[in-house]
Amino acid sequence: METEVASSEKPHLPNRLGVKGWVWAGRYTLERYLYTLHRLTGLGLLLYVALHLGANGFRLGGEESWTSAIDFLTNPFGRVVEYLVMAAFAFHALNGGRLILQHLGYTLGKPKPPIYPYVDSMRRRRPLTWVMLAVIVALAIYILVEFVT
Ligand code: HEM
Repeated sequence: METEVASSEKPHLPNRLGVKGWVWAGRYTLERYLYTLHRLTGLGLLLYVALHLGANGFRLGGEESWTSAIDFLTNPFGRVVEYLVMAAFAFHALNGGRLILQHLGYTLGKPKPPIYPYVDSMRRRRPLTWVMLAVIVALAIYILVEFVT
């Protein structure tokens, strides 16, 4: 009988792929790529929060300092960044909701016996993934229309 090895005694295998493994380490499913995007949008939002707090710090310097900071940030590139932040938040929030539901075991369906052709839980989860993607695309388009009109 196999005895369980404590995690401290397990050998540390080198992470040969590093960050490249986020994108490719064999056949990844759609949900695995959505997780990579979840990580990227999460880190992007963190960066935005830091920049947002930094930019708001200019308020402390009085009205002139604040107006010159806002003038500096008001340009087409700034608008594109603002749009990407909104779209990233829409994606991260909805995909995060999907991950929470699935981490808690909802939407996975009942376990099935491993009879060929196998139906793994990833594929059973797909309808929710497609509905979520459709809502995200609709939101991203809506936000874009609001931005340009
Ligand atoms: C409605 C709002 C949000 C929801 C529902 C949400 C949901 C989640 C969930 C469920 C995870 C864990 C994913 C997993 O391990 O399976 C996660 C990770 C993360 N979130 Fe959020 N999140 C939200 C807002 C934010 C915001 C505003 C930020 C940044 C300021 C953020 C940054 C991150 C980061 C950096 C991670 C770690 C990603 C990784 O493991 O590489 N999230 N989020």
